[in-house]
Order: sequence, then structure tokens, then C-alpha cells
Amino acid sequence: MEHPEITEDMIFQCFAAAQQDPDQNKTAASFVDVEEYENQIMYPEFARWAEKAGHRDLATLFRKVAGEEKLHAVWLRELYSDIGVPPRGEDTQRAIDALETIKANCDKLIKMNPQGVVEKALSVAIRVEEREYLDIYPRFRDQALAENDAETAAVYQRVIDSEQQHAEWFQAALQDFQSTAAAQTA
Ligand SMILES: [Fe+2]
Ligand SMILES: [Fe+2]
Repeated sequence: MEHPEITEDMIFQCFAAAQQDPDQNKTAASFVDVEEYENQIMYPEFARWAEKAGHRDLATLFRKVAGEEKLHAVWLRELYSDIGVPPRGEDTQRAIDALETIKANCDKLIKMNPQGVVEKALSVAIRVEEREYLDIYPRFRDQALAENDAETAAVYQRVIDSEQQHAEWFQAALQDFQSTAAAQTA
């Protein structure tokens, strides 16, 4: 490829959607699978990009959010003691593969266009968090409520509130990032 480029959509392919299942235990296992993927793979990779691009503050933010994704899995694991190592979801595996593909080009691209990669990662992080708190996890909460499982519903609600906060942190960081960039080119 003569002019490799990483688009926002390519990075968005690294998002893994947790899958709802008629069996609440399977929904929970998928949730844990995705949250642990975000904790162990996706956000640490975004943090690595930010660090390489010279944005330590953003690397710290990605790592902080990664830590909270771990907590989300821990909260739910407390109610589902038999999850163990959840089966790797199809969508999670697809996301892992997408991330591997990007990684091959990423280091080169960060050198060529560090601001671009970091800005796109932030935009994707906002989209990921929004999908979760506006769409996916409310459905999981409602499934638990429909089964009169108030405890599980309360955990999903706590997660929804937390993902919303993540979206807000990333939005603020992106605004900051863009206004700094604008000031530098003015
Ligand atoms: Fe999460
Ligand atoms: Fe999150």
C-alpha cells in the first residue's frame, strides 16, 4: 500500500458489541467478555497510540477508562459466580482481528500523522461508549427487569451511568484536543 491510512471506521471495527441472549446467563457472559476485552486489549492499545503520539494525558485517560471497564466485569461477576472464562464472542474475536490488522500499520501512521490517529481514537471511544450506554446496556437492564431480577438490573444501570461518564470524559478530551490543535495552526 503506497499511502496507508487508518480511517475512523477502521478503528470503529475494534468495537465489540456484547450480545443479548434469551438466557440471561449468556447475556452476562457476553457482557463480561466484551468488558474484559476493552480492559485488556482495546483501551490499552488506544493508550499506547496516545503515548506514542506524545499525549500522555490522553494515554492516562484511556488507561483510567480501561480500569473501569474491568470493574464493570467485576460488578457483574459478583452476581454470576459461574462465568469463569467466558466463551470468546464472535463479535469480540472479529474486533480483535480488526485491531491486529490496524496494528500492523499503526506505528508508521502515528509517526506520519500522530494527531490524526489520536483524534480518531477519541472519536471512536465516544461512539463506543454511546452505543453501550444508549442502546446495548439499557436492553440488558430491561431484560433483567422483565425477569424480576432487580439485582442484575441495578448492576447494568450502574454500568450505564459509568459508560455515560466515559462518553463525557472523551467528549471533553476531544474538544480540548481540537481546540489546542486549532490554536497551534492559527
Ligand atoms: Fe464498560
Ligand atoms: Fe466504558
